[in-house]
Amino acid sequence: MDQLLIALDVPTGGEALQLADALRGSVGGFKIGNQLFTAEGPVIVRTLAAKGDRVFLDLKFHDIPNTVASAVAAATSLGAWMINVHASGGSTMMQAAAEAARRTASAEGRPAPRLIAVTVLTSLNATALSQAGVNSPVIEQVTRLARLAQQAGLDGVVASPQETSVIRALFGPDFSIVTPGIRGGAAAASKNDQERTMTASEAIAAGASYIVVGRPVVAAPDPREAAEKIAKEIRSSLAR
Ligand code: C5P
Repeated sequence: MDQLLIALDVPTGGEALQLADALRGSVGGFKIGNQLFTAEGPVIVRTLAAKGDRVFLDLKFHDIPNTVASAVAAATSLGAWMINVHASGGSTMMQAAAEAARRTASAEGRPAPRLIAVTVLTSLNATALSQAGVNSPVIEQVTRLARLAQQAGLDGVVASPQETSVIRALFGPDFSIVTPGIRGGAAAASKNDQERTMTASEAIAAGASYIVVGRPVVAAPDPREAAEKIAKEIRSSLAR
């Protein structure tokens, strides 16, 4: 199931590899975030990429353009399939990142990674935004940053379930939308710390290109079975 990405939010490379071995073939790829990358380093990305897995390296780069471009080049060389940066780093930063991804991939003869932007972290609400000097409603800030990302040549954005349909309507069918916050339906389990959630099929119906699922699969007694159930739900949603 190409659209289903699993967040390998586990503390060690050993656990990540074990999960990936159990899930390979049932899912579309694996997300490696700050926890696992900081603990285990790039070897986990290289190892999964060498096994043919699609790796979404979720490190949310945000720095001056030259530094982000160098980090994106390094992530491309590792074999990451998808990489993200913060859109709030600005247009020049995103353009430098996109250019670095293209240049590195072409020099190394590999497909260019998908480069996507984080707009407004879902942990921030209107009050938190205004404390940081942003006085527009959250959805306005999200669409403003998504537009900046598209204009800078990025392939898409990470979006909460609530933002997905607005972004799909505004930015067209070719803009990738990666949606976490999946709960309910086949992704039962408790909501954990996710507040505004959707089921996998609702997110796909709202226009998500990929959904990211962590705990409902990773913490399930049988992760493969849990992933297969979600994949089945997505398949039936696509068939409708
Ligand atoms: O366990 P759960 O399904 O909530 O995991 C979702 C994954 O997506 C986690 O790795 C989390 O960090 C990430 N994520 C998120 N919400 C965002 C962006 C990323 O939950 N807005």
